[in-house]
Amino acid sequence: MNINNFHLQNFRNYDDESIQFMPGINVLVGNNGQGKTNIIEGIYYLLTGKSYRVQREHELLKWNQQEFHLYGDFIVNHHKVFLESHYKDRKKRVKINQVPCQRLSDFVGTINVIFFSPDDLIMIKGGPSERRRFLDLHIAQIRPGYVSILNAYNKVIQQKSALLKAHIERSSKYAQLELWNKQIIELSEKIILQRIELTNRIQEVADQIYVNLTSQQENLKIYYYALGKKEFQEALAELPELLNQKMEQEIERQMVLVGPHRDDLHILLNDKPARLYASQGQQRSIVLSLKLGELELIRQEKGEYPLLLLDDVLSELDSFRRNYLIKFIESSRIQTLITMTGAESRLDDGALYHVEQGHIRRER
Ligand SMILES: Nc1ncnc2c1ncn2[C@@H]1O[C@H](COP(=O)(O)OP(=O)(O)OP(=O)(O)O)[C@@H](O)[C@H]1O
Ligand SMILES: [Mg+2]
Repeated sequence: MNINNFHLQNFRNYDDESIQFMPGINVLVGNNGQGKTNIIEGIYYLLTGKSYRVQREHELLKWNQQEFHLYGDFIVNHHKVFLESHYKDRKKRVKINQVPCQRLSDFVGTINVIFFSPDDLIMIKGGPSERRRFLDLHIAQIRPGYVSILNAYNKVIQQKSALLKAHIERSSKYAQLELWNKQIIELSEKIILQRIELTNRIQEVADQIYVNLTSQQENLKIYYYALGKKEFQEALAELPELLNQKMEQEIERQMVLVGPHRDDLHILLNDKPARLYASQGQQRSIVLSLKLGELELIRQEKGEYPLLLLDDVLSELDSFRRNYLIKFIESSRIQTLITMTGAESRLDDGALYHVEQGHIRRER
């Protein structure tokens, strides 16, 4: 998948700017605060309908403006795809090839993207929600329909949680809780099976990449723990009973205590929890391996590599890992957009763009 042309209007610090990308490596260079990350964020938003930096679209609007537009020309499986995103009056509208898209879930996954920035290290050190997000974002890109299942599940959890807090008689609470629990059982199975499948597939590729990245010195293992258990079939079989057992406690604590919204992905580095023991550099390497693993899986699934967006990543890697990454990109011919400040030594290959105060100039 390739992006040919990208156009931003009133997005972040851009007025009206276009950029023509090349196949292979595209380097965006500029001082701090000039708009490099804003370009990456814009492309990510166009492809996923979400920003990874903010919750509310309002912050993406150029100050004092009422609407923003993003346009992108892409090539997917030798076909041209034109995407358009428009935000105004707190509403976003998306068009694919000029045709309005009804729901966000209809277009997520049309064009795949892998994004990596130093903030992703939170996946290792942060809470379970960060690791679930990694899995869910990836599944959403390759399995149409997963977003709707996840949304349905989240709605059930919200409604069950409201019921637990409601001031109503216990007996009628029990009856309603049983109804919600039935839906939790049905949706949990779908979510857990997808997450397990992805974990198993990514484990194989990511471990191979990690071993190479560390010159055969270290290994990486990941396991999905469903409902607190490594054996997901056992966990699923026990779910109805567990929901019954915990009902009393859920009412006491007014919290939904059972379900895949509390699951975790265990990441082990040389058989020890990475969350507790991995050094800064090892964390970077783990995340890099998982991201490159994702890249491989998308290629297996879709027949071509996704677009790769690397924000400020190179400066964070030592020269061996940096070279490994560049070689990986070059040999697989993945179209990659890389931002850097130029303080690091520059890349010799690829197209080079200079970014300054919301203006982009091609240099090479
Ligand atoms: N909504 C907005 N409207 C106008 N300008 C904005 C908006 N949001 C952010 N900015 C400006 O955009 C600039 C930041 O851009 P960006 O994050 O892309 O910088 P960068 O080039 O990636 O810098 P760094 O090298 O520090 O990462 C800042 O100058 C910031 O003030
Ligand atoms: Mg930046």
